[in-house]
Amino acid sequence: MANTVNPIYRIVWNVVITIISIVISIFYPADLIFGFLSKSHILSIEVYLTVVYALDIFIWDFLNKAWHKERFLDSIKQLSEQSGFYFALDIISALPLYLIFNFKLLLLLRLLKLNKVGEMTQHLRQWAIRYSSHLTILFFIFWLGMIAHWYSCGWLLLRGKEISNDNWSNYINALYWCITTLTTVGYGDIVAKTNIQKLYSILIEISGVVIYGYLIGNVVNILSKKDPAKQQFNSNLEKLSSLTHFRKIPSELQNKIRDYHLYVWKKRLGFDEDEFLKGLPAGLKREVSLQLKKDIVERFPLFQTSDKNFQFEIALLLKPVTAIPGEIIFKEGDTGNEMFFVVKGELSVLKTGNELLNILRDGDFFGEIALFKNIPRTATIRSETYCDLYSLDKENFDFVMKKYPEFASKMDIQTNLRNELFNFIEDNLPDKSSDGEKK
Ligand code: CMP
Repeated sequence: MANTVNPIYRIVWNVVITIISIVISIFYPADLIFGFLSKSHILSIEVYLTVVYALDIFIWDFLNKAWHKERFLDSIKQLSEQSGFYFALDIISALPLYLIFNFKLLLLLRLLKLNKVGEMTQHLRQWAIRYSSHLTILFFIFWLGMIAHWYSCGWLLLRGKEISNDNWSNYINALYWCITTLTTVGYGDIVAKTNIQKLYSILIEISGVVIYGYLIGNVVNILSKKDPAKQQFNSNLEKLSSLTHFRKIPSELQNKIRDYHLYVWKKRLGFDEDEFLKGLPAGLKREVSLQLKKDIVERFPLFQTSDKNFQFEIALLLKPVTAIPGEIIFKEGDTGNEMFFVVKGELSVLKTGNELLNILRDGDFFGEIALFKNIPRTATIRSETYCDLYSLDKENFDFVMKKYPEFASKMDIQTNLRNELFNFIEDNLPDKSSDGEKK
């Protein structure tokens, strides 16, 4: 049995209240100018609003408390302590002040309920993390529209019906003036005449500067922060550009560096995942790391068949590496410090004199012999295309082999199979090596 009220009901309720408060915030100010709502209509709307807004404050807390047999008064006390300011806004917007004082301007206090929009956006942002920045822009556009509407109503109140008796034309005219003033375009075809109108224009102009300053700041922020990999790419290109300013770097080399960064960015590898993982607690870190390295753990039969603990551990130890075409990963005779797993790309295994021994592709691994046997590299490895690799350094390699001997033997079997296959090809196709030699 659930121990609280089903959250879906609460979400639906909140959506309905938000829509009601938006509709009211549009129609009440407009009604002050055009008076299209009859007194009896307003009275019934006010009664409904009082009930619904009052329910909105207490109902969920009340239901949960009732469920747990707690005292309702405690719940009110708790609410006011937890969110004092918003609680006060909710209380004021729920009061039937117009019904008590019969003064139309008091209807505008219902607009305070718009704080519900902020609350909903906050929930939406947490729920749809991916679209958080889009929501910020949508939220901003909503408020801009709302403010423009209120300002237009205020302008109509000061100017009266300007063009005709047609309410719609009057409203469009006011909105047009308001937007041109807010955006500081100001065509000058509609101008303030009286002192109060001029003061009102000043208010709108100042708001315009603040609103657009805020908008530009936010948009720049969102655009530059949206994609950390792109940010990294731009910053790397800037570094390259300033380096070429002071040092002589041949244009061919410059292009190579640019292409490398472009590749890294397109593959979304430019984001420092390790840095991100550092901030997470150990358990979550293991899970996220496995998720981020899904491509390798799922692609490699060697990893697939291993137990979950091993997968978690190896995912944490593997480091992503990108190789550019023609790059020598290491040379025959070098000391072995790490081994590699090929996620994507093509690499040549070369013997002295550029003799092609084999081609490594997605799902292969290399560099394990020197680590297993503690001997120098038995061959040179050169990448032929852009390659996405994962490296495992010697220290971690020794640790894994010791802790998971079954993985070590699987790897040994695969190495032997590969070498046997290679010997078979070499014995049966004597021309192969000369054919395959790099031109
Ligand atoms: P290591 O000796 O550490 O460095 C060179 C690597 O090339 C070697 O490990 C193997 O992983 C790999 N290698 C050597 N010979 C072959 C071959 N015939 N086919 C595929 N890979 C090889």
